[in-house]
Amino acid sequence: MSEMSVFECIAARRSVRDFEHKKIPEDAIQKILGAAVQAPSARHVLPWHFVLIEDEAKLKELSDFVLKKYGAVKGFAARIAFLKGKTVFHDAPLVVLVVCDENASNWVKEDAALAAENAFLTARALGIGSCFIGMANSLNDDESVLRSLALPKGFKVFAALAFGFPKNGVWPEGDKREIKIVKRF
Ligand SMILES: Cc1cc2nc3c(=O)[nH]c(=O)nc-3n(C[C@H](O)[C@H](O)[C@H](O)COP(=O)(O)O)c2cc1C
Repeated sequence: MSEMSVFECIAARRSVRDFEHKKIPEDAIQKILGAAVQAPSARHVLPWHFVLIEDEAKLKELSDFVLKKYGAVKGFAARIAFLKGKTVFHDAPLVVLVVCDENASNWVKEDAALAAENAFLTARALGIGSCFIGMANSLNDDESVLRSLALPKGFKVFAALAFGFPKNGVWPEGDKREIKIVKRF
């Protein structure tokens, strides 16, 4: 595999929603998580813990819970159509939940997002696609779901990250993006 520069990874990363039914090798998982914990965190609290889910039945159970929660949300029908019968995780072979003690600092949400992007870029460098699953935040709505994920008390899901090899090796086309500067002083 040829190495990608950080610039290439940033430019080539796009959310992947069609995955091969193929396990992510353990060394790749370790690299992805290792990159996640290199992210900056407010007051250096390093709040990140992870729940790794590869079990299809567990992913389906969580997805069903999220979809039930979203049933009452505006735009739900469009969201369901977008999933094309797949789980909210787009049937990814690996989902990583970034879970943190919600009282670790006032910036745990930001810390989780920064860790997520490190993980995504590293995955991209390894030829692994990813997608942030914001919908999965509703897992926090039910204590029993959090318990079923083995979360200690006070821990919540701050980011749900889907990973997998892109179907048939096809990466989504990158769109052109504008730099919107409001003003320079
Ligand atoms: C906070 C957040 C929540 C998101 N939630 C979802 C989601 O629930 N499902 C999904 O398929 N994509 C989700 N995405 C992915 C965005 O749709 C995607 O990043 C955006 O369309 C830009 O495309 P790109 O990631 O390919 O650059 C989310 C992204 C972010 C940052």
